[in-house]
Amino acid sequence: MRVADRLVLVTGASSGIGRALAVRLAADGARLVVTGRDPDRVQEVAARTGGKAVVADLAAGVEPLLDALPGRPALVVHNAGVGAAGPLEDLAPARVDELIDLNLRAPIQLTRALLPGLRAERGHLVFVASIAALGVAGEAVYSATKAGLRGFADAVRIEVPEVGVTTVLPGAVDTPYFGRRGQEYDRRFPRPIPAERVAEDIVRGIRRDAVEVVTPKWLTLGAKVHGAAPTLFARASRRFG
Ligand SMILES: NC(=O)c1ccc[n+]([C@@H]2O[C@H](COP(=O)([O-])OP(=O)(O)OC[C@H]3O[C@@H](n4cnc5c(N)ncnc54)[C@H](OP(=O)(O)O)[C@@H]3O)[C@@H](O)[C@H]2O)c1
Repeated sequence: MRVADRLVLVTGASSGIGRALAVRLAADGARLVVTGRDPDRVQEVAARTGGKAVVADLAAGVEPLLDALPGRPALVVHNAGVGAAGPLEDLAPARVDELIDLNLRAPIQLTRALLPGLRAERGHLVFVASIAALGVAGEAVYSATKAGLRGFADAVRIEVPEVGVTTVLPGAVDTPYFGRRGQEYDRRFPRPIPAERVAEDIVRGIRRDAVEVVTPKWLTLGAKVHGAAPTLFARASRRFG
């Protein structure tokens, strides 16, 4: 789809990938609604993109955002998300709920509510999942939310052929995400890629109506091994991380 002059909702646009994508889509002429929790950062992105700012905690519910929309979006980018790193048994129950509420429940509820408009617009949905959807040690709940998002996207793609559905599986991206999840990225390889590169890959994926965008592209190998040989994938992942 083309985004020029169309209403586009980007969640989690106050930082990182969402911010870079909002700026990129504005350059293509999209009319943006940008969301996040931090009022100053949301306002800054809205001013930069000429969009409308909506400050909302999506883990607490999606109704305030739905009420604030100025029309029916033709493109919805479900990008807001948080991580949590560490052994599963050390994760506080409230943190488990927060991850599920923000990363999975909010995109499902938003999609359900916005689907009639998306159908009418012959629009597009983007779900920013993660390569962690394949399963990453020390990130079990995060992995589960992203695998759930991927499965939801797969089902909607089949159920609603009038609407394009693209799932995005980024590897490590250079954003505040790692600090916020409580553990900085400390691997020497692979190096995190810039958020602008992910934004560019997403825009290309929307134009081509891609089913999945894996970025950086070489990580597709991991997805293929996971699908074809899950035992080998688990062994390799345990060994190499
Ligand atoms: N960075 C990576 O390596 C990486 C890799 C794979 C996938 N991802 C995924 O990419 C997406 C974007 O992450 P990022 O790297 O750009 O991280 P980020 O810079 O931390 O951005 C996260 C965004 O989500 C918003 N958000 C967080 N909690 C929220 C809540 N309760 N309600 C509403 N909005 C909330 C944040 O808004 P405020 O700051 O205003 O609260 C922010 O705009 C996430 O879904 C993440 O899981 C990231």
